[in-house]
Amino acid sequence: TTVSFDASKLDKFVHDNELDEMQALVNAADTELRQGTGAGSAFRDWLTLPDDYDQAEFTRIKAAAAKIRSDSKVLVTIGIGGSYLGAKMAVDFLHDTFFNYLPDEQRQDPQVLFAGNSLSPSYVYDLIHLIGDRDFSINVISKSGTTTEPSIAFRIFKAKLIEKYGKTTANQRIYVTTDKQRGALKQEAASEGYETFIIPDGIGGRYSVLSAVGLLPIAVSGADIDQLMAGARDAMNDYTNPDLTKNEAYQYAAYRNILYRKGFTTELLENYEPNLQYFAEWWKQLMGESEGKDQKGIYPSSANFSTDLHSLGQYIQEGLRNLMETVIFIDKPNHEVAIPKTDGNLDGLQYLEDRTMHFANTKAFQGVTLAHTDGNVPNMSVHIPDQTPHTLGYLIYFFEVAVGISGYLNGINPFNQPGVEAYKTNMFALLGKPGFETLGTELNKRL
Ligand code: PA5
Repeated sequence: TTVSFDASKLDKFVHDNELDEMQALVNAADTELRQGTGAGSAFRDWLTLPDDYDQAEFTRIKAAAAKIRSDSKVLVTIGIGGSYLGAKMAVDFLHDTFFNYLPDEQRQDPQVLFAGNSLSPSYVYDLIHLIGDRDFSINVISKSGTTTEPSIAFRIFKAKLIEKYGKTTANQRIYVTTDKQRGALKQEAASEGYETFIIPDGIGGRYSVLSAVGLLPIAVSGADIDQLMAGARDAMNDYTNPDLTKNEAYQYAAYRNILYRKGFTTELLENYEPNLQYFAEWWKQLMGESEGKDQKGIYPSSANFSTDLHSLGQYIQEGLRNLMETVIFIDKPNHEVAIPKTDGNLDGLQYLEDRTMHFANTKAFQGVTLAHTDGNVPNMSVHIPDQTPHTLGYLIYFFEVAVGISGYLNGINPFNQPGVEAYKTNMFALLGKPGFETLGTELNKRL
């Protein structure tokens, strides 16, 4: 398989019999997931999405991407949570580290920049400044069509677009990704004639990267979305057997639950390549929003190595022993750099001459794995061969199917997110939104 899961360093923490003993629970979780007998079963369409998606819409996504690539220097992608993280992590994962930093004369692809993922006025001001007088388009993404952060950003960037191009042309530069019938955004799109893409009913935000939510911005960035889907399709076909000796995604789900039940309640997703940082942000939403409920669940966190070995490294090695770690390691980086020969040995690095930076990175990974294991942090790793769209599609599906199984193993509904509503209601009340007056009065008294 494209992804290779390695649990060989867990000997010290998990006895041989324990995986076998999870098999019956995994079979039950598999039935809940595949037969739809588990909680949240209406939100499992991501399971078959790589094979079962709207081909006509897929073609429209490619055509829209081609138009944006030809008439825009910047795509402002507006969304938050599940309507943002997938596209952001994929654009970072699939391109050069400095993809969005290159000046226009050095680039073949538009910049894909994000807005509506915070309420920071400075961020929006700075983004407007960065776009300057260059051509841009907007992809606004919101399933509910009513989320405050993206709604505010959309208002601001739409006004800029109208100011620059006039209303008719501006409307042709606005691409909406939303629910097929509900929400304010859907209504506005219908009345203004914006090109619209659908977020399927059976796919929650954090599982939506392979729908129009992720695909349009990813295609605008110039990445091959056919290959992305092909990778996910291969994973879909590879991870159907519930037998733990044959299914590494299920193995990962089983091991993290074995460890969780022994008190390892925080999982760090770690990488050795800076442009995987947002992969961890995407993963944290996928894991945290799926599993953190009913007062239980593994807390998903992350670290970027070797950078964070010089900060968090101390805690990981010797702090509170509730940590487990999962490393994503890229076996062949996009680029290799040799450590140069110089005269003499003043910097003490002569022993590394003729070696490469990837060699040094690999030795860091191996050394850290052993040190953390000795420090009582259980270590799992997920090897990927490269950073191609096929590999990313495969990796996305690996984690999606793993968290579906993992959630059912822990007896929760992996597909709802009741907890994210609490702050939204309070914010509406404090902002003075009509309909929330009584709560607003109550909350203001408490402030
Ligand atoms: O996963 C989720 O449900 C959330 O993170 C949502 O994606 C986020 O709140 C954005 O919601 P919407 O797409 O409705 O604007």
